[in-house]
Amino acid sequence: MTSLFEKTLNGTVTSPPPLWLMRQAGRYLKEYKAVRSSEPDFISFCLNPKKAVEVTLQPIEKFDFDAAIIFSDILMVPWALNRNVRFEPGKGPLMTPLEATSQILNSDMDSLQTKLAPVGAAISGCRAALSPDKSLIGFAGAPWTVITYMLEGQSSRDFARSRTWLWDNGGEFEALLELVTEATINFLELQARAGANALMIFDSWAGAVPSEFRTQVVINPIRKIIEELRRRGCHQPVIGFPKGIGEGLIAYCDEAGIQGVGLDHGCDVTWAAANLPKHIVVQGNLDPLSLISGGAKMEVAIANIREAFHDRAHIFNLGHGITPETPVQNVHHLINLIRDSGDRDNSGAGTDV
Ligand code: CP3
Repeated sequence: MTSLFEKTLNGTVTSPPPLWLMRQAGRYLKEYKAVRSSEPDFISFCLNPKKAVEVTLQPIEKFDFDAAIIFSDILMVPWALNRNVRFEPGKGPLMTPLEATSQILNSDMDSLQTKLAPVGAAISGCRAALSPDKSLIGFAGAPWTVITYMLEGQSSRDFARSRTWLWDNGGEFEALLELVTEATINFLELQARAGANALMIFDSWAGAVPSEFRTQVVINPIRKIIEELRRRGCHQPVIGFPKGIGEGLIAYCDEAGIQGVGLDHGCDVTWAAANLPKHIVVQGNLDPLSLISGGAKMEVAIANIREAFHDRAHIFNLGHGITPETPVQNVHHLINLIRDSGDRDNSGAGTDV
């Protein structure tokens, strides 16, 4: 049985579209907060397969979304590379900024899959618990976005240190990019082998990369990751999410080797429908903050997204993660609007593109 999510990600136009929300397991859910409070250290929480399975499944049980995304974090890679990643309430992620690529040792890379094995265990546990009509998404951060946290040591507005490393020609940045790319391949391979049905690569800060470097820093590493996964026998479809790159999406879709692209809420859907190659499945892109009021303007925005992508393979989602302040009844309203917007049920054949 192919799930609605996988059918669409394979290129079939479906109506209504499959639906899931970025950060769907998160603090807008009281059920999540209850489990989270039992494990104050965020990394330990991510590395506890039983709890990770529990919170991954919560939004599926509550909202019947078409896909679950494994509860983990993009910063598990720097953690596995022995950066001292920690999360402080109100401050977000923190780690000591990397001074030189040589601070990461070969032995760190060698132990990565062992250290991250609990994420694989959580994936196997989720897959075993999910019904066949639900898909499970594994994920990692894109190398650039992960590198920004390693160099800045925290969330950043201007990514000054990362961009300075880019322009410096000492070869340090290139070495770090290669190393984090290899670590990302290993992490995604582990998740694919554990049973993930699709993989997503989050490049949340791709928009901060100077356009001169976009091919080298945003596109080429993704292509390399996907080529290497295929070489290692992992054939799951990959969704790239290069947030904030605007017109750069065209080259990204043409060159990165992805099957699906996540669109952020800054992306005009009419432009995307007209300009992005038809063989790329689109995912997105309602502004998560529209869910705070959940009123008439949100309804119009949803209708516009559905209309723009009515003849394409489209996975409905937000343009970024759902926020902790989101009222749960507005999530139910969104789901009802999407599920009522279809022109037929999805049990039959769709239209192949
Ligand atoms: O439900 C899901 O989407 C799966 C789980 C998931 C988390 N993080 C759990 C999490 C996913 C897909 C991520 C990805 C992630 N993590 C990204 C890329 C997507 C994006 O939002 O741009 C990034 C940049 C991170 C790094 C990160 N992790 C930050 C900046 C923070 C702090 C943010 C905050 O709101 O405090 C985290 C912590 C984090 N990861 C939380 C969750 C649910 C909240 C922390 C908590 O529960 O205490």
